[in-house]
Amino acid sequence: MTILVTGGAGFIGSNFVLDWLADPATRGEPVVNLDALTYAGNLHNLDALRGDARHVFVQGDICERALLDRIFAEHRPRAVVHFAAESHVDRSILGPGAFIRTNVEGTFALLEAARAHWGALAGDARAAFRFLHVSTDEVYGSLASDAPAFTETHPYEPNSPYSASKAASDHLVRAWHHTYGLPVLTTNCSNNYGPFQFPEKLIPLMIVNALAGKPLPVYGDGLQVRDWLYVADHCRAIRAVLARGRVGETYNIGGWNEQPNVEIVRTICALLDELRPQPQGPHARLVQYVADRPGHDRRYAIDARKIERELGWRPAETFATGIRKTVQWYLEHAAWVAEVQSGAYRDWVAANYGRR
Ligand code: NAD
Ligand code: TYD
Repeated sequence: MTILVTGGAGFIGSNFVLDWLADPATRGEPVVNLDALTYAGNLHNLDALRGDARHVFVQGDICERALLDRIFAEHRPRAVVHFAAESHVDRSILGPGAFIRTNVEGTFALLEAARAHWGALAGDARAAFRFLHVSTDEVYGSLASDAPAFTETHPYEPNSPYSASKAASDHLVRAWHHTYGLPVLTTNCSNNYGPFQFPEKLIPLMIVNALAGKPLPVYGDGLQVRDWLYVADHCRAIRAVLARGRVGETYNIGGWNEQPNVEIVRTICALLDELRPQPQGPHARLVQYVADRPGHDRRYAIDARKIERELGWRPAETFATGIRKTVQWYLEHAAWVAEVQSGAYRDWVAANYGRR
């Protein structure tokens, strides 16, 4: 038995692969990891698996159907866990094309390759096959401050090129189930944080900027609300959905932890004041309010009662425990941070923040 993971060199995918191969329930099952190694993919995330025969890495693009067919034929995975995507809203605003290509066309190619593979299976192998699509709460759009949290039946109202491309991919996955019977599962998760997150997203950006004494750029009034989930909890939820989720269903995954951005930044600054105090004064002095993101969604919130009720999953970390672990991880992995802050990263910082 083998599973095919796409995007397993990115933030959540690499955490998933590491956790899969460490969990006693799944550690015996090898992983084929297909990743194009875009700016967001980093093989150093998987250094702990060097020489481990249970991890087979393939550098390649999910849009390439012939490559996908070869991987299915050679490894005959019993499941696909699909993380590969362009994932950053700000990048989708400055360059939406890559999002349409990978998130929409890439998911289409992967669905077609999976359908061809599954269609040729028989008996138990056919019944057991799963295609798990990892998606986001952003497909549901923005909530008013007093509106109930997103349930799985909330209408899709994506607002950014990123969320529109993920919504499109969710619809393809749904249609491949309804039309062709492909045994799919979809998860829609809130904002993740934790080890190996590329420092373009809010939490790692604030940590690495604060450590470098650089400004902490808060968009608009900083009162936008997100629900935050520690990445290991997300990975455990995906394992539960893959093992026990009902075919054709979607599961919302969240941390029961809604907070405005300014509160997240304040917590990070307070932790750094404790763990790495600076003679110049508290890290919060670095906060700078900058021009808002166009079309910025005001609030996301997840109602995660379905996955709790059906699969018994709940987050294990609180935000207090998860953010402390995360800040400590970045403090202990200065070489990883330095390596990802390459020339291309500096170009991104200039493109996104230079004009704000
Ligand atoms: P990420 O940007 O860190 O990683 C994406 C990975 O996909 C990278 O390793 C990249 O090299 C790879 N990739 C990109 N294009 C590819 C292509 N054409 N072919 C093969 N590989 C390709 O993203 P992430 O934060 O780890 O998110 C993973 C998935 O989870 C995405 O589908 C995202 O939409 C979803 N998600 C993310 C969050 C979050 O907070 N980060 C929350 C909910 C859902
Ligand atoms: P981000 O981590 O990009 O995730 P998403 O947009 O997918 O929710 O951003 C989280 C929140 O933080 C979002 O409201 C935008 C805000 N933000 C800032 O205020 N400053 C920043 O430099 C970044 C990257 C994000």
